[in-house]
Amino acid sequence: MSAARPAVAAPPERPCTVAEIKRFLAEALPAREGASPRAEAAALLAFVLDTERSVFVADSNRTVSDEVCERLRRLVERRRAGEPLQYLTGSAPFLDLTLAVGPGAFVPRPETEGLALHAERLLPAGPAPTIVDLCAGVGPVAIYLARRRPRARLVALEAEEKATALLRQNAARYEVALEVVVGDAFAPATMARLPAADLITANPPYIPSAVIPNLPPEVRDWEAASALDGGPDGLRFYPRIAELAVGYLRPGGAVIVEIGEGQAGAVKRILGAVGEVAVGQDLAGRDRYVWARREEVAT
Ligand SMILES: C[S@@+](CC[C@H](N)C(=O)[O-])C[C@H]1O[C@@H](n2cnc3c(N)ncnc32)[C@H](O)[C@@H]1O
Repeated sequence: MSAARPAVAAPPERPCTVAEIKRFLAEALPAREGASPRAEAAALLAFVLDTERSVFVADSNRTVSDEVCERLRRLVERRRAGEPLQYLTGSAPFLDLTLAVGPGAFVPRPETEGLALHAERLLPAGPAPTIVDLCAGVGPVAIYLARRRPRARLVALEAEEKATALLRQNAARYEVALEVVVGDAFAPATMARLPAADLITANPPYIPSAVIPNLPPEVRDWEAASALDGGPDGLRFYPRIAELAVGYLRPGGAVIVEIGEGQAGAVKRILGAVGEVAVGQDLAGRDRYVWARREEVAT
């Protein structure tokens, strides 16, 4: 039998102020590894008040309506049941973007921001490169790059309909022209729809199958297994990505992929089939992405 969650403390007496409700939220929200109840409280409050955090920070004596209190109480309940904060607010930040997210779609992570920034550096100098983003999810990498290079041709491949609906919504929000290919990266028919590219990016599923049951419940129970599961060793997608890079990259083009813990050596060997390989680290200093560049053709 699972242990009952402790009851949520009662919200402050009404009418209450922004400062009081924020204190209540920070106490009522669960303290989880990597999560800050104070930051989550501020995010939920900003969401329900439909405002920027700075507005209510500057006006913490403002009175909160009963309706807002009730909505916050319900959101706290859902959060305490493990639902990701980003599903509650319907959005996730990624570099300078705020992306629509929702159940069934992978929530973009800060770890992937480094990959997007490095991908931009791998682009050729010309104004209109072709970029293919494999396993695109709701579009963080593709939309970031499309905004940085407005004349680029951007093709985003994603298997899950729920994710592609959000990907299209995000592309429309930022007014970028993405070509969305809905399909399986392993299917020959899908691949026939991809163009020759100057850059291939991918943050594929890379968690070893046996690790999935031990993930934090808010990931394991809420995000689609198909977005996480990289097969027995977590490496299922990388040989396919290398094969595509060999087949679709123009000479001088590059491929960059995100990796999980302990995968740098194996992925370096796999992408070695494309060309010279290197490894990059995330802000915590962990190996987080690997890239390879196809040789230029000698003239
Ligand atoms: C780890 S998520 C990354 C999503 C996005 N690139 C990001 O960084 O937020 C992996 C994505 O690959 C998609 N995916 C899984 N299997 C796939 C396949 N066989 N072909 C294409 N996409 C796939 C999942 O639906 C998921 O959106």
